[in-house]
Amino acid sequence: MLAKKTALITGITGQDGSYLAELLLDEGYRVVGMTRRTSTEVHERIEHLVDRIEIVSGDLLDQSSMTKLIDDVRPSEVYNLAAQSFVPTSWSQPVLTGEFTALGVTRVLDAIRQVDTNIKFYQASSSEMFGKVQETPQREETPFYPRSPYGVAKVYGHWITVNYRESYDMFAVSGILFNHESERRGKEFVTRKITDGVARIALGLQKQLALGNLDAKRDWGFAGDYVRAMWLMLQQAGPEDYVIATGRTHTVREFCRLAFAAADLDYERYVVEDARFMRPAEVDLLIGDPSKAARVLKWVPETTFEQLIDRMVRADIARLRPLASV
Ligand code: NAP
Ligand code: GDD
Repeated sequence: MLAKKTALITGITGQDGSYLAELLLDEGYRVVGMTRRTSTEVHERIEHLVDRIEIVSGDLLDQSSMTKLIDDVRPSEVYNLAAQSFVPTSWSQPVLTGEFTALGVTRVLDAIRQVDTNIKFYQASSSEMFGKVQETPQREETPFYPRSPYGVAKVYGHWITVNYRESYDMFAVSGILFNHESERRGKEFVTRKITDGVARIALGLQKQLALGNLDAKRDWGFAGDYVRAMWLMLQQAGPEDYVIATGRTHTVREFCRLAFAAADLDYERYVVEDARFMRPAEVDLLIGDPSKAARVLKWVPETTFEQLIDRMVRADIARLRPLASV
């Protein structure tokens, strides 16, 4: 019998970490998740997995803890998903975002270099790196032009991954993922803010929904589909970078229209524009070209935009319904 492969996931408590842990368990892996020390331990997204995964403590800000962790766990694959991932916070905490989202990547890579260069590494890169887009649709070769401290930090993370691959012959890949969402998405991100708002309005718990730029366009997919692409990248013969996207784009307004319609509501009656949610520099349009992923990884997204919105609205209504009957 083949020995079980071990995967170490940083950011296992996040949206993607929880879906990736489920996928790797299904694939027969021993799954180890790194969490940072907090005074209260709330791991809502992975509560259903706690008996099947191992949780270890570590922080991307601390090099020695990362090296010791990699040495102790001896994973065959490392998925570096941990990051300060909310774009607006990167303007209010630019240095911390850089420490974590940029230099944190070097810390993990260097830990691997010191312990065992045969460990495969996945870096969670982002379409936010394309920023003020230089080409449409965006593909692996499209030049980056980040528009936020977060985007700048991710560009660093991307290139340090490429550099360790080329310097030390490591199997290190950068997955350039476009926005992906689910009912587990943080409520500060626009899709979940909208579906949570729709549910509250439908249940009489809220009257209005204040949003920022309704004209921004994003290529939105389902997180459950996207974590499969991460795994596939590490199962290839050689390390390469891939764009993961649906190839379709929609405005925030369009997302609102469909999400409110899913609860038989007209968004124009409830959505108000609020300057507080506008950004100092915006990414106006993202649309990815996933043809390399389709050709090499045989990856195609399975969930449509409409199905994604429908499942998110239904999940938020089901979650909030008990509050409405109090
Ligand atoms: P998320 O829900 O915000 O999760 C982020 C994770 O990082 C959480 O587990 C968080 O742990 C952890 N983390 C934050 N600061 C940490 C620290 N100092 N030490 C250790 N862990 C820390 O993000 P996501 O949507 O799952 O995204 C996963 C990754 O993909 C991120 O790197 C993100 O930037 C990138 N990405 C996401 C998308 C997308 O559309 N979702 C697209 C492209 C790239 P706590 O629970 O302790 O906060
Ligand atoms: N968050 C938020 N809140 N965004 C709003 C709002 C609002 O009230 N109103 C409009 N928007 C617009 C933003 O200006 C942006 O253009 C778009 O909605 C999407 O915003 P977010 O959902 O916050 O996501 P993001 O695109 O900035 O970043 C996400 O995707 C990246 C990949 O492209 C994050 O998950 C990043 O971590 C990820 O790398």
